[in-house]
Amino acid sequence: MKLVPLFLLLIVSCGNPFGAKGKLLFRDITGEEREALKARELKAQNDRLQFLKDKKAAADEIVRFGNEGFTALKPLLTKKCFDCHDANTQLRFYARIFPGINPLKQHQVRGLKALDFSGGYPLKAQGNPPQLALLKALKDAVSDKSMPLRIYTAVYRKRKLFEEDQKAILAWVNPLISMIEEYTEKYEATTNPEALAKNLLETRCFRCHANGNANGNFGNMENTSELLKSRFVDTEHPEKSKMLSEIESGSMPPSRRQRFTSEEFQLVRDWLILEAGKPR
Ligand code: HEC
Ligand code: HEC
Repeated sequence: MKLVPLFLLLIVSCGNPFGAKGKLLFRDITGEEREALKARELKAQNDRLQFLKDKKAAADEIVRFGNEGFTALKPLLTKKCFDCHDANTQLRFYARIFPGINPLKQHQVRGLKALDFSGGYPLKAQGNPPQLALLKALKDAVSDKSMPLRIYTAVYRKRKLFEEDQKAILAWVNPLISMIEEYTEKYEATTNPEALAKNLLETRCFRCHANGNANGNFGNMENTSELLKSRFVDTEHPEKSKMLSEIESGSMPPSRRQRFTSEEFQLVRDWLILEAGKPR
């Protein structure tokens, strides 16, 4: 390192040995150059403003498309989903008595935690999971026809999802998912491995294991120190943690459509190993 000042001194005293323009540093800047610099700065500023404008327009367009589609689907959702997924729906009296043990009431309580349509778009759920997580859950449930609950459609046969319902919902959910993914790619892209790993956990685990959700008694994933204390993480041998083996084996997340690729798994694994090694 001591060589650096010496080297600089050499350049200053002898002129830049790397090129003919060595003297550039030592003469006054011309008016022309000053103008060029100013123009460059102005352009950078304009580009930045344009970027923010485009970003805002893209975000607005997502909300507009989300709302428009939701409004069009509302009659269908009201009929087939709102009994369990709308905070404003008042259940019939026989569903309201003995709320602690009434299965109908319990369906509504659990259903509302997982997804609440009462605010339209953006969708709501316990713990405010990202829209992408909720939309993908919706896509899975509708594609697999796992909703409405079988126990419910056994009674209300006409409230099953028929093929045209499935098509109508997917014609809204699929483009919305693409729009959000394109938005993230264009305006919020990151190559930081830590951010990437956290994004993966946030979109694929948090709605069931964080911010008040604790399926299988596994919660608080949003808080890394709590996560490291959980019995699903082995801080001595983080690579052997249950949390990782559940992902690697494909048991978690439960939806097969949301399984991790090996690159995605590697990101989360490296992140957990790094975090477990940090002093706390
Ligand atoms: C009879 C009540 C009931 C009805 C009707 C119902 N759901 Fe559900 N839904 C639930 C419950 C309960 C859950 C919570 C997850 C669980 O425990 O299986 C849930 C969870 C979900 C989830 C999240 C799934 C996940 O992976 O966590 C989605 C998405 C969903 N429902 C969509 C719908 C849609 C769309 C409709 C209408 C077509 C609908 N549901 C109708 C009870 C219902
Ligand atoms: C749709 C909800 C849902 C999502 C999303 C989800 N899980 Fe789970 N998870 C559950 C449920 C329900 C259980 C408890 C029942 C079971 O083990 O299947 C569970 C259990 C677990 C357990 C405990 C297993 C045990 O042996 O007790 C771990 C660890 C876990 N999940 C990790 C994850 C990770 C990591 C992610 C994200 C990559 C994730 N889960 C995403 C619903 C979910």
